[in-house]
Amino acid sequence: MTEHPITQRSKWNSRLGFILAAAGSAVGLGNIWKFPYITGENGGGLFVLIYLVCIVLVGLPIMVAEIMIGRAAQKQPVGAFEALQGHKTSWTAIGWMGVLAGFIILSFYAVVAGWAMDFTLKSVVDFTSTIEESTDREAAQFVAKATPSELRSMLIDDAVSHDVRDFAKAQQRSLLQSTWDEYQAHKEFLATYRKEWDKFLSLTPVEDQRALLTQGRFEQQKLLNEIDVDALRTEVQKEIADLSDEEVLARLKLELDSSQRLLSDPKIAAAVAAGEAVEAKIAERKSELQEKWKAHFAAVPLSELEEQARTIKRRELIFNATQSAFLATATDGWTAMFWTLIFMGITTLIVGSGIASGIERTCQILMPLLLVLIVGMVVYGMFQPGFKSAFNFVFYPDPSKLKPSGVLEALGHAFFTLSLGMGAMLTYGSYQDSKSGLIGEALAITFLDTLIALLACLMIFPIAFSYGQEPSAGPGLVFMSMPLAFAEIGRGGMLLAIGFFGLLFFAALTSAVSLLEVVTSYLIDQKGWHRHSAAWSMGAAITLFAIPSAFALDENFVMSGWETGFKMNFFDTMDYLASNWLLPLGGLFIALYAGWGMPRRLQVAEVQDLAPGLFWGWLFLVRIVAPILVIIVLLQKVRILDIDMLLAGRFNCHEILF
Ligand code: PFF
Repeated sequence: MTEHPITQRSKWNSRLGFILAAAGSAVGLGNIWKFPYITGENGGGLFVLIYLVCIVLVGLPIMVAEIMIGRAAQKQPVGAFEALQGHKTSWTAIGWMGVLAGFIILSFYAVVAGWAMDFTLKSVVDFTSTIEESTDREAAQFVAKATPSELRSMLIDDAVSHDVRDFAKAQQRSLLQSTWDEYQAHKEFLATYRKEWDKFLSLTPVEDQRALLTQGRFEQQKLLNEIDVDALRTEVQKEIADLSDEEVLARLKLELDSSQRLLSDPKIAAAVAAGEAVEAKIAERKSELQEKWKAHFAAVPLSELEEQARTIKRRELIFNATQSAFLATATDGWTAMFWTLIFMGITTLIVGSGIASGIERTCQILMPLLLVLIVGMVVYGMFQPGFKSAFNFVFYPDPSKLKPSGVLEALGHAFFTLSLGMGAMLTYGSYQDSKSGLIGEALAITFLDTLIALLACLMIFPIAFSYGQEPSAGPGLVFMSMPLAFAEIGRGGMLLAIGFFGLLFFAALTSAVSLLEVVTSYLIDQKGWHRHSAAWSMGAAITLFAIPSAFALDENFVMSGWETGFKMNFFDTMDYLASNWLLPLGGLFIALYAGWGMPRRLQVAEVQDLAPGLFWGWLFLVRIVAPILVIIVLLQKVRILDIDMLLAGRFNCHEILF
């Protein structure tokens, strides 16, 4: 059984050690940062339910497949397939893709982990209390200066915008995403156009016409390609200045004509009409609410008005302060890079120290600590007023709140959160030589990962709800909404903040270690390098590659050419490439290899302790179900399929393809 190559291969000390390390890989920013915010964006309960189904139908079988391949091959991903097939094989491409994905993911993962480190330190110096004190003062000053009618209108606005939010979202969801996008894309343009048309009719001096043409042309060009706005303005100004007065008039007419043509495109016109109808409904509801709240606040005594206004103003000020605290970190490339460097240093130190004495030992300490911290935070949340609504939000499935494409997001996330598709589990599996307990291990890892993702929601949403935060705050949920809540909590918020950001950092660290291990083990297994030199050189290379991600939000370091080409910044491009393409593709091929390509003899040896029913169940999932589901996700990504449209019963090839 133990046919080790010439040198003794590193091994885990115990099965529990392996499970904790693998769970450490799975539990990371994906669970605590990403899962809660995508759950929030996708309306909660039903999304969670679908995510659980994806984990069982796709995640678990591929997890078994990865560990199985690693255990059987005793090699990391690049060498594993050749070792199993006994000859050179194109399945090896999976391994290369895995190494590439590990390199890319770690480069931006380290940046986010760096933010978590920065916030942990900020929490130690109690930044949320400082925010609380200063905003308390400012809010009191504001209320003292404002007139009663100003206070009233502020409270009315706040109540209306709060109440109309869900209604507005539901209204928007009643349209197809593509219709809404089309409407949004033309909305601004049409509004300007209509205004400009009216203006044109009333214009006589040719100078005004010239100015109008310049502005119109500028807006149009800006809409087409958002490049350097200042340069564009100068260019357009010069272009128009060269024209004669008659030409200006003729061009102006032409421009406005072409705008009119745009309006008469039936598809655009329909989208605009649908979008405007939705906006009208929202406006109507808004004015009803306005009346309702106006009547309500008219009856509220002044002292109470002041009290409520102070709370709202304070929250608004805290929101601005926490937002700028986060932006100060994220948009300052040097700070981000500083923390990225430290984070990469710690990660590399652990990987360089070896499998049992580095990775296993770290995870054996950090994973239980993480569990204790998260349970502690959830218990705190249970005593908060928002716990009940948070619980319902996470566990009560409401079909009206989920778009079909949310299902695909759930499936895509299953790969990321379980560290599947790039050979991380395969590599960890290769340091094990047991031939039993495969399913139990995969179940334990998956269970821990899912448990922590759900606990993360039950930790974040009660706090967010209790302090008036929206669940759909997006990626800023963790770095902006949570500090806001901590600041509102006042004293005691500091401890929660340390616990929360410390937890985020630990979770990120045990995942980063596995990402670096995939890349490092390539040099060790395939090139015969020593662990130390392999880890440090790969760690250094990835840190260098992280620079553009760390600086992606820094205005002084704009890779504007990059943004124009890819329509997103460097950081987002890397995330998109790895999470949306490399992992699902890797997962697909791993499933296909384990199901169809792997020699049956090796496969059977790995699952000899398994009941035949379970084995066939697994084989069915990995051969058929998982590949089909992943292919659907990929087709949606290349836009050959639009699941929202398909399920809305409006399947129309022409509309989808053009
Ligand atoms: N599973 C990690 C998370 O949820 O944050 C991310 C990750 C780690 C993805 C390791 C892939 C990987 F190989």
